[in-house]
Amino acid sequence: MATYREFHQRSIDDREGFWRDEAAAIDWQAPFDQVLDYSRPPFARWFVGGTTNLCHNAVDRHLPTRAGQKALIYISTETGQARTYTFGELHAEVNRCTAVLRSLCLGRGDRMLIYMPMVPEAVFAMLACVRLGAIHSVVFGGFASHSLASRIDDAKPKLLFTADAGMRGGKALHYKGLVDEAIRLSAHPPEHVVLFNRGIDKNPAMTAGRDLDYAALRAQHMDAQVPVTWLESSEPSYILYTSGTTGKPKGVQRDTGGYAVALAASMQHIYCGKPGETMFTTSDIGWVVGHSYIVYGPLIHGMATVLYEGLPIRPDPGIWWQIVAEHKVSVMFSSPTAVRVLKKQDPRYLGQHDVSSLRHLFLAGEPLDEPTARWISEGLGVPVLDHYWQTETGWALLSSLPGVEATPVKYGSPSFPAYGYDVKLLHEASGAEVGANEKGVVTVVPPLPPGCMSTVWGQDDRFVQTYFSSFKDKLVYTTFDWGIRDDDGYYFILGRTDDVINVAGHRLGTREIEEAVSAHPNIAEVAVVGVHDAIKGQVPMAFAVLKDASMLATPAGRRAMEQEVFAVVDKALGPVGRPARVHFIASLPKTRSGKVLRRSIQAIAEGRDPGDLTTLDDPGGIDQVRGAVTGVQE
Ligand code: PRX
Repeated sequence: MATYREFHQRSIDDREGFWRDEAAAIDWQAPFDQVLDYSRPPFARWFVGGTTNLCHNAVDRHLPTRAGQKALIYISTETGQARTYTFGELHAEVNRCTAVLRSLCLGRGDRMLIYMPMVPEAVFAMLACVRLGAIHSVVFGGFASHSLASRIDDAKPKLLFTADAGMRGGKALHYKGLVDEAIRLSAHPPEHVVLFNRGIDKNPAMTAGRDLDYAALRAQHMDAQVPVTWLESSEPSYILYTSGTTGKPKGVQRDTGGYAVALAASMQHIYCGKPGETMFTTSDIGWVVGHSYIVYGPLIHGMATVLYEGLPIRPDPGIWWQIVAEHKVSVMFSSPTAVRVLKKQDPRYLGQHDVSSLRHLFLAGEPLDEPTARWISEGLGVPVLDHYWQTETGWALLSSLPGVEATPVKYGSPSFPAYGYDVKLLHEASGAEVGANEKGVVTVVPPLPPGCMSTVWGQDDRFVQTYFSSFKDKLVYTTFDWGIRDDDGYYFILGRTDDVINVAGHRLGTREIEEAVSAHPNIAEVAVVGVHDAIKGQVPMAFAVLKDASMLATPAGRRAMEQEVFAVVDKALGPVGRPARVHFIASLPKTRSGKVLRRSIQAIAEGRDPGDLTTLDDPGGIDQVRGAVTGVQE
């Protein structure tokens, strides 16, 4: 049995040998003839020549051994529904769905956009898509038509798979209306919209010829058996859009074989799950955590996965622990924000259910503060492990490896680089490696390990430009996070180096929110910054300059204007991007070259020192921001 250190060292020193061994965890139709092709840095191709399929690995290959075992456990506390599918039943449903998509001519390399609530049909659609060798692009249901339209225009999907509505906190979200609006805004509308009608919207509007009812199509393919399409390892499995510095989200492209191997390996070395057990990941299929650890990771590993639609506190704050107890969940994955929400509730809910099946609780997506980690770990009596990763990496970049060695936990730290990642902390300006306890940019020396993004969809140059060009004369992958390493080698993440903010574990670009706010005809200029929040980690706060400021004369006029801005953001981006506050000011603080001083605005909004203001063009802007956040103007 290797130690963490030996295991990690081998993954760097004998990269190919290490991953050749890990690749045995999945099924290959044809074996690969090269572990890694790195002839065109920074593009890495893993398991070259090998053919495989994600759906086969997640479903079909388990049939001989576990057809009767649970695969998908669906629980909705929004509708009161619960449905369980064995691997055999999942196979049947996925085949029906695959036959439907095939009948609509979806084939290898084609894209399908999935805009779905947390229902089993969303999982069937993802698996059916990859079964055909088609590429899915799942868009989170919290996004609205404008965001949806920009993703349609970039991915140019042949089909769009959606539902009548989602539910959150007992409130219906009418997906179909948002889809119709997005298609109206789009330059590349899909040929068909397949609608899964779950009966929340009794009569969703259907466009004749374009929109098709899933139930009716499914009924024609009840006994369908559609063979999987074997893909070369590097062929894309999916695109997942994520926010960056610009207003235009990037399509993170994932391969097939490398991703399957990376997930299978992580289920063993990181999550310590065993085939036949149950994993419960509380994310949403619209995020990377949902892709990797609600859908593909556990299923590839032969585990049952819980698909939970609902809030952590309804019908009561013990609901998650009730699910853990009922389904003997052994691996759980959630977010710090969710735990902070639970922490505000009556603590007796933590001890009401038998959670002794749980080996670990993993948290990721945003910084995990020590009091939160301690509270949940002590309350449940379960080890809590923080781990750090990104949409781009697809799986953990920094993590302890309890499947290899149980290293001591330091609260506040996601521990060490995961195997396969040659992590370096670099000085922002010089690019030199920083020493212990010195702050640097978290970077990875390429090639990136299997499972990480292969490129930006359709934009190889943007992939290189965005992620590999931060340091002159040095080809390294930049995470855009600050980090520090202590004397014992533990890493601590100190926040983003760019304009990305993290709201309740949801990654948002401030530029995207600014563009949404600017859609209001009375907005002249706006700056959005992320401001610390005790529950959500960060919330967006907008500082806007109006063209006509006459309505600001009264508090009621000011409030009405703020509501109008909320409404345009809800319409464009969705509630996920709505600022916590919109402050109206007369001018934004800018440098003499016209650059908005976002970091200074953020510092003032958080009550910190705004730092060096010598490049400021006009001190009035800073005073305006200060006045707005301290309420002097209000
Ligand atoms: O800033 C880091 C933060 O979330 C970003 C990635 O977000 P996303 O692409 O949505 O992927 C989430 C996958 C778990 C990172 O650049 N982040 C993620 N995990 C942590 C974190 N910050 C601190 N601690 C973490 N454990």
